[in-house]
Amino acid sequence: MHKDRYGLACTGSAAAVQRLSRAQEHLLRFRPEVVEELDNAIAEDAGCVMARAARAWIGLMSSEWADTRAAAELVAGTRSIDAREQAHLDAIHAWASGDMHACGRLLDALLDAHPRDALALYAGHQIDFFCGDAVNLRDRVVRARRGWDTQHPDFTTVDGMLAFGLEECGDYARAEDIGRRAVERNADDVWAIHAVVHVLEMQARFDEGIAFLEARRANWAEGNFLNAHNGWHLAVFLLEREDHPGALAIYDRLLHHAASPGIALEMLDASGLLWRLSLDGVDTGGRWAALADAWAAKDPTPWYVFNDLHAIMAFVGAGRQAQAEQRVALLERYLREGDPGHANHRMVAGAGLAAARALAAWGRGDDDAAVSALAPVRHHLSVFGGSHAQRDAYQRTLLCAAMRGGHGTLARQLLDERLAVKPDSPWNRMRDRQLRGLNAPAA
Ligand SMILES: [Fe+2]
Repeated sequence: MHKDRYGLACTGSAAAVQRLSRAQEHLLRFRPEVVEELDNAIAEDAGCVMARAARAWIGLMSSEWADTRAAAELVAGTRSIDAREQAHLDAIHAWASGDMHACGRLLDALLDAHPRDALALYAGHQIDFFCGDAVNLRDRVVRARRGWDTQHPDFTTVDGMLAFGLEECGDYARAEDIGRRAVERNADDVWAIHAVVHVLEMQARFDEGIAFLEARRANWAEGNFLNAHNGWHLAVFLLEREDHPGALAIYDRLLHHAASPGIALEMLDASGLLWRLSLDGVDTGGRWAALADAWAAKDPTPWYVFNDLHAIMAFVGAGRQAQAEQRVALLERYLREGDPGHANHRMVAGAGLAAARALAAWGRGDDDAAVSALAPVRHHLSVFGGSHAQRDAYQRTLLCAAMRGGHGTLARQLLDERLAVKPDSPWNRMRDRQLRGLNAPAA
């Protein structure tokens, strides 16, 4: 066996494990070269278990059904006499079989024994994100971090993960401190950049957020597959300035365009941005239609409801109400007939279907239905994952439906809640002015 980038023993030839080590670095920097490097490692030595496992993890972390099937096929029949490698294979099998929560637990056990297994930590971190488990998003990293050499060049990404977990748990000061120090040590650490950006978003420090991202454009805007998501954050900051052309320019350059690869995790941010613009009554031209086409081209087999929700947004936005209702019906059938042991089933049952119904109802102008679907689950949306910032699209939808549908008391309450945590948000203030124009003065 040969040692990888973290000193962990790996099955396979020296050349294959060397490629695996390069791929590990690419992965933590979100560089697309990771795929080619792993494919080459597998071609170099088909018996390099961790190259095969890493390639399968990338497929799973795409959150897409087609990639998941390909990932399962890639490791089908692969076994290892090494306990760590076999634990990876078992965890991959658990997720590919639909049990993302079991997968996360298996990775936790793996990390107890091998805290420097960056791939296990990275995959576990993404699972905690997909499952909306903010506490473990933080604590999984805390548990593994002690096993790291703080001088390791990838340690900044561990801190980036910790900073993001702290942020999602609401510990903004510590998240910003750890995130900024990671960025200072490694300017290209896009995950650490992203963690700082989340703090600025949650604290309504929009101008600082714009300045922070603009000053580091060279570090995040190209050469990594987090650029669309960090671009989305920049566009969301710009929306607070009502800089709609600026937000749309970012959409065209980074989120979705003719040459976009059609990755669901990018397309969902594209949907989220256009949805926010549409809620504000901004004309987005033909962008919804192009995005709806891209969503329609994907296999609709229920696998990760957060993707379905953003497909529904695109169908509604493009005026394809029938397609939106069809996707809702597909989720309703999945809830009746799907496997309750699947993580996605819990997500659909917990809040996913309600959110889907609300989006479709908003699309057909049925504000009462949108409110009655979304209001009861508005505190439980984390069940289907994503960040607080991403899920704000649903909170905004509920507020807009309450306002448009004349649910004045609920609208006032929702807006008071928003103003309590983000009093300086221009969007919140704008809605407040609108509401006061419709109803009694705010308290
Ligand atoms: Fe984010």
